[in-house]
Amino acid sequence: MKIGILTGGGDCPGLNPVIRSVVKKAYNEKNAVLGIRYGWKGLMEKDIVPLNIKSVSGILHKGGTILGTSRTNPYKTDKGHEVVKDNFKELELDALIAIGGEDSLGVATKLYKEGLNIVGVPKTIDNDLDGTDFTFGFDTSVNIVMECIDRLHTTAESHDRIMVVEVMGRHTGWIATYAGIAGGADYILIPEKPIDPEKVCQSLKARHDRGKNFSIVVIAEGSFFNNENPCLQEQKLDEFGHVRLGGIGQRLAQIIESKTGYETRVTVLGHIQRGGRPSAFDRVLGTRFGVKAYDLVKNGQFGKMVSLRGNKIVEVDLEVATKHPKTLDMELYNIAKIFFG
Ligand code: F6P
Repeated sequence: MKIGILTGGGDCPGLNPVIRSVVKKAYNEKNAVLGIRYGWKGLMEKDIVPLNIKSVSGILHKGGTILGTSRTNPYKTDKGHEVVKDNFKELELDALIAIGGEDSLGVATKLYKEGLNIVGVPKTIDNDLDGTDFTFGFDTSVNIVMECIDRLHTTAESHDRIMVVEVMGRHTGWIATYAGIAGGADYILIPEKPIDPEKVCQSLKARHDRGKNFSIVVIAEGSFFNNENPCLQEQKLDEFGHVRLGGIGQRLAQIIESKTGYETRVTVLGHIQRGGRPSAFDRVLGTRFGVKAYDLVKNGQFGKMVSLRGNKIVEVDLEVATKHPKTLDMELYNIAKIFFG
């Protein structure tokens, strides 16, 4: 059997553990794995690298992806998906394991429907992919943000300041809420709920009135004010129609400072949240996902995505998983709210 493997979309810690476990299983069972470089772009350009046991040695603890990644969408290029299908045949692939988020797995779903043998593996620090309780990358990212909030706490306290921390989360507030709870945020703003600046300021004032002279506000980059669009860093769209977000933290900080009179500073964490070594949780989840993806290929169960349900690794239909983003569980936000103000 010859299995192709690619990583598409934004990178995240835990991709290498998946690649490693697929290659190790294939090696044990004398099957070949072909690495496809830079996501779907690599399959359009036949940019490939054979993977053997040596290629995956020493990568478990490394962030990023040894295969490289891109946001290339074959359906946005003239006949791109036809080229992908032709190359799949030419490379004599029996199956493809596509590791990606909503966009890359959306492409995988379409190609599966057009006849390719594909299995999906869900990744994203945003944890917004439906059909799985968690994606790998999320836990590492939450731990990074938590550490940053811890660091901001001490300096906020020394200077009697409000610290606004802008975190990733294009459509959803998973990172903001998990890291906010873990870091003891005094307010959390998420894309699922428009920002009410009056409420934020009242809550911060109430906290200061009871003697606290500093506060931490965590805001997801996709948060927005009522009747406004999210803040853009750049108008340009990527091949999946996404703009580059950024700047909402700064806008909110100006409002807080002018309405409350408290000195307010902003920290934008950006790609720090995606870099570095994966947490133990993400290494284990990536490893388990890789093993399950290999088994699905071996059993000819295509059009499926591996998924974590409770503590079990199961499979779900790719099509179901890629229909809608998974928004934040509001029960969790309600727990976070107990600590506001
Ligand atoms: O991986 C998803 C994500 O982290 C989003 O939260 C964010 O908007 C986006 O990636 C930014 O990624 P890039 O700058 O690589 O396009």
